[in-house]
Amino acid sequence: MRYINDDLIEKTILITGGAGFIGSNLAFYFQENHPDANVVILDMFRSGETFSNGNLKSFGHFKNLIGFSGEIISGDINDRELLSRLESDYKFDYIFHEAAISDTTVLEQDLMIKTNINAYKDLLDLAVAHDANMIYASSAATYGNAESPQRVGREAPNNVYGFSKLSMDHLSREYMKKKSISIVGLRYFNAYGAGEYFKNSTASMVLQFGHQLLAGKNPRLFEDSDKILRDFIYIGDIIQANIKAMQPKESGIYNVGTGKARSFQDIVDILQKELDTELTCEYIPNPFIGSYQFHTEADITTTREALGYEPSFEMEDGIKAYVGEIKRIYATEVKQ
Ligand SMILES: NC(=O)c1ccc[n+]([C@@H]2O[C@H](COP(=O)([O-])OP(=O)(O)OC[C@H]3O[C@@H](n4cnc5c(N)ncnc54)[C@H](O)[C@@H]3O)[C@@H](O)[C@H]2O)c1
Repeated sequence: MRYINDDLIEKTILITGGAGFIGSNLAFYFQENHPDANVVILDMFRSGETFSNGNLKSFGHFKNLIGFSGEIISGDINDRELLSRLESDYKFDYIFHEAAISDTTVLEQDLMIKTNINAYKDLLDLAVAHDANMIYASSAATYGNAESPQRVGREAPNNVYGFSKLSMDHLSREYMKKKSISIVGLRYFNAYGAGEYFKNSTASMVLQFGHQLLAGKNPRLFEDSDKILRDFIYIGDIIQANIKAMQPKESGIYNVGTGKARSFQDIVDILQKELDTELTCEYIPNPFIGSYQFHTEADITTTREALGYEPSFEMEDGIKAYVGEIKRIYATEVKQ
């Protein structure tokens, strides 16, 4: 489904983080709906390197791009030489900036700030040099435990990841004031959908519960999971927001959620129905109390107004659309 009329003929689109979950979905969106666009992916791809929390330093995976026929560059957004080569060798019309340390539990503040904020500034300068539209990934983590519904302007990040995304937003506002390019920051809430498996333990609970059920294991939820509510958003709506952000009414920072809070218990209940299982839920104490979001719900009023964004997947619809892929991944990756 196309969200804009422009064919994007002879347009060049850079997707940073294009081997990751959201970036690879964007790449395929363009390939399928705007085949005349020239899509270039820049991603660090995974090495074996890990952070002190034991998780991989980058989740990019070639399997997310099987079938993609555009250009792929393996590189680090912190590499200024690489960015200046991109500036001289290409002329980008749009930059979708998805590359980041996306793991909210990473503790290395130095690398988080460098990768998420400082490299973003260099990419903003590239966008200015090319007169390209910048559409970048901010996050609902900017809100921390701020009161629901979360609104732009009422942030309270409670980890360095959320802090880094909020700093990206501050920087963007400075550029919006001084420069003439279009800049749109998208504060994604909890995304789920095809392409997230290679995020390992940081993949959504939709996928993780799905695989527990397929393995015949009792789903393990935190105690009071019927009262832990989040705005879970299906990848189809994340893509819609990104594409509409190519032609915003005005630059700005916008929430991307469904506008509805749903519980972790809902996820399991919907999955059990879709997968035709009746396993007994087990409840375990929540070890993250203090650094955990207990209620998120995006206020999407300004997103609707500025982008014409309208969420089209309730959680029931998103899980229904995703369940075939959850089974495929289970059969081809997990059971192997
Ligand atoms: N998935 C969500 O629920 C969610 C929610 C809010 C915000 N976000 C943000 O959206 C963006 C995309 O997230 P995702 O879920 O697709 O995560 P992801 O980890 O799958 O994708 C990020 C990609 O960036 C690449 N990358 C990391 N560091 C890099 C570097 N230094 N140079 C080049 N590439 C690098 C990784 O290899 C990976 O492919 C991220 O900025 C993330 O912070 C995601």
